[in-house]
Amino acid sequence: MNLLDGKVVSAKIKEDIKKEAAEFTASAGRKPHLVAILVGNDGGSETYVASKMRNCELVGFESTNIRYGVDITEEELIAKIHEINLDPTIDGLIVQLPLPKHIDPDKITEAIDYRKDVDGFHPINLGRMQRNLPCFIPATPYGIMLMLEHYGLDIAGKKAVVVGRSNIVGSPMSILLARNSNPGNCTVTLTHSRTANLKEEVLQGDVVVAAIGKKNFVTADMVKEGAIVIDVGINRENSTETKSGFKLYGDVDFEPVAKKASWITPVPGGVGLMTIVGLLKNTLEAAKGTIYPKA
Ligand code: GUN
Repeated sequence: MNLLDGKVVSAKIKEDIKKEAAEFTASAGRKPHLVAILVGNDGGSETYVASKMRNCELVGFESTNIRYGVDITEEELIAKIHEINLDPTIDGLIVQLPLPKHIDPDKITEAIDYRKDVDGFHPINLGRMQRNLPCFIPATPYGIMLMLEHYGLDIAGKKAVVVGRSNIVGSPMSILLARNSNPGNCTVTLTHSRTANLKEEVLQGDVVVAAIGKKNFVTADMVKEGAIVIDVGINRENSTETKSGFKLYGDVDFEPVAKKASWITPVPGGVGLMTIVGLLKNTLEAAKGTIYPKA
């Protein structure tokens, strides 16, 4: 088993981003600027947004965290998004999900100007991704592709099985793995809660991406000998063993699966760190106007 080490890869790519950010700042007279809107006080979301903001500072970006209570209306949130859309000093905007039940995430996603949609969730970016056109790619799938690229893993022609069809990870991941690009060119199976014989499907995978959100869901009997295993799960459980008061578990039962895998990502220290890198790369591209020229 070889480790796909998110610490090593993310540190290297962040160094490159930092250099490019400094060049942008020198020529533009301002830093790349990411705004993150956080509604309510979900513990996981607070941790993720804090990490996104901290990493922006580390690579020389400006970051702004706008917080609202759970009682903000959909109209108020959309009005704020429209204001940010028009602000030329803001390059990227993300609204952390999940949102409270009275706010429709699809309406919010579509309210964001696709040219600032550094999460890559807007239908224009998703459509362009499917067509292999320049676009913002959702941060987690983007980070996973960067990880595969870094290790030079040749996955062309291989069978890839994605477990979970979320808009954020599973669905875009299946598109990227199947695209005619490198890495890519896999034969992809997208599995979900209604998949029959899930174990048999996952056993076919030369590449397995677990993005189901259930602790230790993928067990060793489901994984083919020599598979590349990517664990997207970040399942938090309360723990008295750690300072933070919680412990993170992946969607993959790591120790036994690692014995069969050729390559595997750990949790923590794997995909989570690469998600941040995907977001930072998108924000830099938004600032530079390389994907969508600045107005
Ligand atoms: N919630 C879980 N992952 C993400 C993400 O990548 N972006 C946003 N906006 N919310 C999330």
